[in-house]
Amino acid sequence: MDMGLNNKTALVTGSTKGIGKAIAMELAKEGVNVLINGRNYEEVELIVNEIKSKFPSTSPQNATADLVNVKQRETLFEKYPNIDILVNNMGIYEIMDYNDVDDIVWEKYFETNVLAANGLCKFYLNKMLKNNYGRIIFIASEEAIMPSGQMPQYCMTKSMLLSLSKSLSKLTIGKEVTVNTIMPGPTLSENVYQIIDSIYSDENMAFEEKEKKFMATNLPQSEIQRFIRPSEVGRLAAFVCSPYASAFKGSPIRMDGGMVPTIY
Ligand SMILES: NC(=O)c1ccc[n+]([C@@H]2O[C@H](COP(=O)([O-])OP(=O)(O)OC[C@H]3O[C@@H](n4cnc5c(N)ncnc54)[C@H](OP(=O)(O)O)[C@@H]3O)[C@@H](O)[C@H]2O)c1
Repeated sequence: MDMGLNNKTALVTGSTKGIGKAIAMELAKEGVNVLINGRNYEEVELIVNEIKSKFPSTSPQNATADLVNVKQRETLFEKYPNIDILVNNMGIYEIMDYNDVDDIVWEKYFETNVLAANGLCKFYLNKMLKNNYGRIIFIASEEAIMPSGQMPQYCMTKSMLLSLSKSLSKLTIGKEVTVNTIMPGPTLSENVYQIIDSIYSDENMAFEEKEKKFMATNLPQSEIQRFIRPSEVGRLAAFVCSPYASAFKGSPIRMDGGMVPTIY
């Protein structure tokens, strides 16, 4: 299906690996000129070159910046003042005991997972409203609506994104601009792959067997009993960016492999 995105420009934050890279790839497949972001210039350049060679009709660009740093965000705005699509994917996560989460950690998570994305929205949303076209997506998590208790500092920030997304969506009334949130469940990013692989490093099993064993032991509530592939989230994000998804306004969109046991 042609998603009608040819020649649009998209900034995908945190797109040198994992879900962000997959979203950038799926958008480029649709003819979108993607701005690749991460903190390391050379790593960003590698992905830009990979996309250029796979999708030569598009013009991927290097958008290296530490998005937590306000000055670096401003430099990025000067370099790329106009975009059609903003995917706020960049985020940090780790398992932590509530008692170890001190104020410094709370602040770090708030600044990284919420304020950085908010800073980008503040700059780009008004421009999108003026152009009467734009798409903003936040990548949250199933932990936003079903905190596991294993990473309270992370869950709080992901719940906040749902709220921010709806507040911003209220500013888009009557406009061809949408703001939505995708909530992926456990997804096989490079980091997750390495973790699963190393847990069973002594056992002579194919990765798929390790994955099955991990899911059955640790995530029995998953109805797919496998990790979601980043490209699955990427394809969904491309659809949500498309003109076919204009009626999604401030929506929390679940792609959690059945992890969340409730209807809503
Ligand atoms: N993987 C999962 O199971 C899962 C499930 C649900 C939701 N999510 C969410 O999906 C998003 C992506 O997760 P992932 O697992 O794909 O992440 P990942 O593999 O850890 O990749 C994170 C990306 O963000 C970049 N990054 C980190 N800090 C940055 C900063 N300050 N400024 C700019 N770029 C930065 C990283 O590059 P550098 O380090 O080089 O800067 C990398 O490109 C996150 O928001 C996460 O919470 C993940």
